[in-house]
Amino acid sequence: MSGASILAGAPNFDRLAGVYRWMEWLSFGGWLWRCRCGFLPEMRAARRALVLGDGDGRFTARLLRENPGVEVDAVDISPAMLEALRSRAGDDRDRLRTHVADVRLGPPAGEGYDLVVTHFLLDCLTTAEVEELALRVRSQVTPDAVWVVSEFAEPAGWFGRLVARPLVRLLYGAFGWMTGLRVRKLPDWEGALARAGFRRRERKTWLRGLLVGVVWG
Ligand SMILES: C[S@@+](CC[C@H](N)C(=O)[O-])C[C@H]1O[C@@H](n2cnc3c(N)ncnc32)[C@H](O)[C@@H]1O
Repeated sequence: MSGASILAGAPNFDRLAGVYRWMEWLSFGGWLWRCRCGFLPEMRAARRALVLGDGDGRFTARLLRENPGVEVDAVDISPAMLEALRSRAGDDRDRLRTHVADVRLGPPAGEGYDLVVTHFLLDCLTTAEVEELALRVRSQVTPDAVWVVSEFAEPAGWFGRLVARPLVRLLYGAFGWMTGLRVRKLPDWEGALARAGFRRRERKTWLRGLLVGVVWG
């Protein structure tokens, strides 16, 4: 595991590493998992992947299993989350490199990525931070690379106003309390990626638009 460059005041997800999957299951059942895996078939041809804000490794372990040709650089600010990933990866560990780093300082140097994945990371950043990250990532990817994003959203209409927005606020309150995360509202990450030169290719939604998955090229 390589590391660590971290900004002062960074959130600390270490103590959630062991319980994260159970918290997720109790609050959203299998929906976040469905959202993460929404574009898994499109990732089976990838050869070099950059997974940012990896978390406890459930998704990356699955990607390594389903795509025996892919090598993964996984980045997270939390050493405990990356430790969980390494143990989940099992025999696929030799195709995995983990990096303890704050993505606001830039992902670890590397290039030629044909796949970038951020599942529920961009909501930990401000719009300006997402844009800076996207500009850096852009210089590290191949021309035909795809970036798969999973995120919470506040859709237009009554469901967005009366259900999604209060729920997102509640989640920010809870994560702020548990990890010290300072961000309090969803960034305009779609605008930030577009300004950095990425183009939206495909979009799926779950739970009436509370969860979105988008493939960018
Ligand atoms: C909400 S969790 C999502 C984890 C995982 N991707 C998933 O889908 O379950 C956010 C993850 O991003 C990491 N993270 C948050 N801010 C970060 C930052 N500035 N740099 C790197 N990792 C960060 C946290 O440690 C945590 O593992």
